[in-house]
Amino acid sequence: MRPARLMKVFVTRRIPPEGRAALAQAADCEVEQWDSDEPIPDEELERGIAGADGLLCLLSDCVDKRLLDAAGANLKVISTLSVGVDHLALDEIKKRGIRVGYTPDVLTDTTAELAVSLLLTTCRRLPEAIAEVKNGGWTTWKPLWMCGYGLTQSTVGIIGLGRIGQAVARRLKPFGVQRFLYTGRQPRPREAEEFQAEFVSVSQLATESDFIVVACSLTPATKELCNKDFFQKMKKTAVFVNISRGDVVNQDDLYQALAGGHIAAAGLDVTTPEPLPTNHPLLTLKNCVILPHIGSATYRTRNIMSLLAANNLLAGLRGEPMPKELKL
Ligand code: NDP
Ligand code: DGY
Repeated sequence: MRPARLMKVFVTRRIPPEGRAALAQAADCEVEQWDSDEPIPDEELERGIAGADGLLCLLSDCVDKRLLDAAGANLKVISTLSVGVDHLALDEIKKRGIRVGYTPDVLTDTTAELAVSLLLTTCRRLPEAIAEVKNGGWTTWKPLWMCGYGLTQSTVGIIGLGRIGQAVARRLKPFGVQRFLYTGRQPRPREAEEFQAEFVSVSQLATESDFIVVACSLTPATKELCNKDFFQKMKKTAVFVNISRGDVVNQDDLYQALAGGHIAAAGLDVTTPEPLPTNHPLLTLKNCVILPHIGSATYRTRNIMSLLAANNLLAGLRGEPMPKELKL
């Protein structure tokens, strides 16, 4: 039997097939999707969300008070195709009694794999080396040419020993890392035990690490946590990697640190803004490797994320427990 009223669902982008299929099969929902790989214009989003019961959105959609007002009182569930929720105005969402679904765990391994790839790419200067092969800079085998930094006997500092931070440490350990440091809001002795990781202040982590991996969530407390003061404390030989969110870093300060040789190199999977303008100063630096936010980008993981996001949305709309609900 068909329900009296179909629930209206709005999807802000073309999503991978498994999630799309799950939504298409939901007989109790009427699904409208912005059928493009490019972002939805603001006015289209406001039109599409008006009167919707459910929203499936991406990390690039800013769900703020204005958008929630445009949605109106029907909106019961927001499901984001991401584990990061910094694009959602959570206080306002909570106030309105809207439930939120997100995609933790299913992307942890894929993102950690990318973080390790980025770290190795950066510390062993792979983009520069590949360019030298192509541009004729490779003239002979030279003992002091194209040298970088290795993980053996190093100290690795992880900002945010959460799901991804632990998965990164787990992958780096077999490279011969001597010591793991981590920082966060509080010690996590149970999680840290596997790596004998020491809980330290942000300042001690900056001072003592050879490699720093940022894997925390973006919150008011972590915004621009990595700034001039932080980079000044780092070793001149240290490598900085960020897979969290661009706003955790003050990019002007990072540029100064890299250009002035105060730190060795940086690898960024996330920037502010995204995309980073092609004339951005960071892109002029050989010791800065920038990727276009591809941490979770494998076909398998994105498909699983889309199915989870669809199932979160449908469960929320039906008043059932969501597979992964964010506690507000
Ligand atoms: P978790 O919630 O498991 O981990 C978040 C970590 O952030 C926790 O360890 C937490 O530590 C830490 N944290 C929170 N506040 C602070 C603070 N003030 N100072 C230092 N650390 C802090 O999330 P995940 O590991 O699943 O994901 C982490 C983030 O990675 C996401 O929020 C997202 O932004 C980003 N991400 C990026 C991807 C990409 O494609 N590049 C892919 C997936 C995620 P504690 O609680 O101990 O303070
Ligand atoms: C997330 O999930 O927060 C990532 O940034 C993209 O997968």
